Amino acid sequence: MTYQTIRFEEKDGAGVCTFDRPDVRNALNEEMVGEIRSLLHEVTAGGTCRALIFTGAGSSFLAGADIAELRERRAGDALRRINAALFREVEQLAVPTIAAIHGYALGGGLEFALACDLRVVAEDAKLGQPEVALGIMPGAGATYRLPRIVGLGRAKELIYTGRMIGGAEALAMGLANRVVPRESVLEEARSLATAIAKNGALAVRLAKTALNHAHELSTDAGLALESVSQAVLFDDDEKNERMTRFLERKQAKES
Ligand code: COA
Repeated sequence: MTYQTIRFEEKDGAGVCTFDRPDVRNALNEEMVGEIRSLLHEVTAGGTCRALIFTGAGSSFLAGADIAELRERRAGDALRRINAALFREVEQLAVPTIAAIHGYALGGGLEFALACDLRVVAEDAKLGQPEVALGIMPGAGATYRLPRIVGLGRAKELIYTGRMIGGAEALAMGLANRVVPRESVLEEARSLATAIAKNGALAVRLAKTALNHAHELSTDAGLALESVSQAVLFDDDEKNERMTRFLERKQAKES
């Protein structure tokens, strides 16, 4: 499929989706939202992609929702949940997602990254939720996801002040999984994606589902979901193949 606002490539099970509107710092407009949704469906249907990286063309990851579109939106548009619905699809994608962040990740750009499973951040990146400076508030998941990742107090500070933080601070508060020099961000994200892609696909998928639902469930329901997922994996052929390979390798070393 060809896209106008994004690019996609896949190699060795690792997909890379590049936001491709560098002239406007990849500001997320409705066309791009539609194309990313199509890509998510393409990735799911294809079945070969084991981890999906999001990155930005040019100097930034994603500088937020397109303010030219935002200014025209009214109450009914907010209720259409244009970006919020996309980010929920990203969060629920069957395969792990990685935000590879350089430059600016602001507003909806940071909310996009919050919906991803992992975040690799450049030392000199600038992350923030500046919506209140524009007279709106984060409306696509930050009030819900940011506190879960960094804690309520830190989330409140970032959202009330709109202050931007760099890589080191993002790492210290658990917002970044890894911080690396700007030129290594994509490479680091690819190495994470490759490490994930080597593992049992169903095992990773079910682990993601269990982790995503853990905080919504009671202790018993959360542990039951874990056991049922494990039960599915115990009867999966791939488990038998992977364990046999391990045991035969061990035997070969001994003989
Ligand atoms: N929506 C629409 N256009 C945007 C945009 C956004 N979120 N972010 C940047 N752009 C556009 C600018 O209008 C400018 O367009 P122009 O060249 O036609 O004038 C172009 O991208 C480059 O932006 P500029 O501000 O000149 O680049 P910069 O590198 O000096 O600064 C930012 C980059 C991201 C700090 C600055 O553009 C900015 O503050 N953007 C808005 C961020 C924001 O508030 N996002 C949350 C929205 S809810």
